[in-house]
Amino acid sequence: MLKKLDEIKSKAILELGSVGGLNSLEDWRVRYLGRKGELTNVLRGLASLSLDERKVIGASANEVKALLEAHLEQKRAALKEHELSMSIELGRIDVTLPGHPLPCGRLHPTTQIVREICAAFVAMGFQVVEGPEVEWDYYNFEALNIPPYHPARDMWATLWIDYETETGERPMLLRTHTSPMQIRVMERTRPPVRVVVPGKVYRYEATDATHESMFYQIEGLAVDENITLADLKGTLYEFARRLFGQERKVRFRCDYFPFVEPGVELAIDCFLCGGRGCRVCNETGWIEIMGAGMVHPNVLKRVGYDPSIYTGFAFGLGVERIIMLKYGIDDIRLFYGNDLRFLRQF
Ligand code: DAH
Repeated sequence: MLKKLDEIKSKAILELGSVGGLNSLEDWRVRYLGRKGELTNVLRGLASLSLDERKVIGASANEVKALLEAHLEQKRAALKEHELSMSIELGRIDVTLPGHPLPCGRLHPTTQIVREICAAFVAMGFQVVEGPEVEWDYYNFEALNIPPYHPARDMWATLWIDYETETGERPMLLRTHTSPMQIRVMERTRPPVRVVVPGKVYRYEATDATHESMFYQIEGLAVDENITLADLKGTLYEFARRLFGQERKVRFRCDYFPFVEPGVELAIDCFLCGGRGCRVCNETGWIEIMGAGMVHPNVLKRVGYDPSIYTGFAFGLGVERIIMLKYGIDDIRLFYGNDLRFLRQF
């Protein structure tokens, strides 16, 4: 039987040499390794042998089987390669066709606009800085002229951090705006100050077409000698022109923010309805994009700036609203819904 195995092995390898295509390779496989193939027959015959013979012949048969299988795979790979080169030669594969496109990532629309806005201010001499999203009550409120229990705190629906001091106070929160960075920047620099601060802010709020519980703001601050409200207006007009083009209408109105005096609100005419009133602009025709004002003397004093020497202006804008204006998006929830059909458009 060992001799028979040897014969099968030599014959199979010899025949394999003259196999010239994948079809005849399959015939070869069936003939030797198939269910009724020659080698399989030998393995079947083992049952009638004694235990000792079975051991020796079984091992040898399995060896031959593994060898033939290895030869089979080798031959198959060689034939495939050959077929491929033949089809290139015959022109059946058009190698001039473009390849499969590689998926390519891109920046989130918010990131793109944050960069664009910052670039507009950088061109006007501002520096870009960032600050913490988990903030102390002191920076988010108190130093901004909003003492504890002052009703102005109601302007920001706050998410408090579960952290208590020994005296039972809860002084840590998720910043509700980027304004705390005004204080942090002034604390560590002397005038002149010109910074913009992009970043995430958080509000404890129900979401709808124009509200999200997490969104982006960009804060701005300029403090120096002789800064006036005219500087504020000129800077923000210039910004609006750079971002929205000459034709966009801009509106300044008085507004209240505890850390500025006087305070203003800047609005742009609604892109969607052209000013007639719709869901996005809350039927007013205008979309408020930022608050601004002259830095309150109390705020300057708090950081050790002398308000009789230094004045300044500050502003804070909602980034998503600006993107909505620019591209005509009517629902802020699309930004962080992670729907690729939306994101791929930018
Ligand atoms: N921090 C304000 C808010 O989130 C926006 C704001 C208003 C920022 C007036 C300012 C400012 O710097 O001067 O509602």
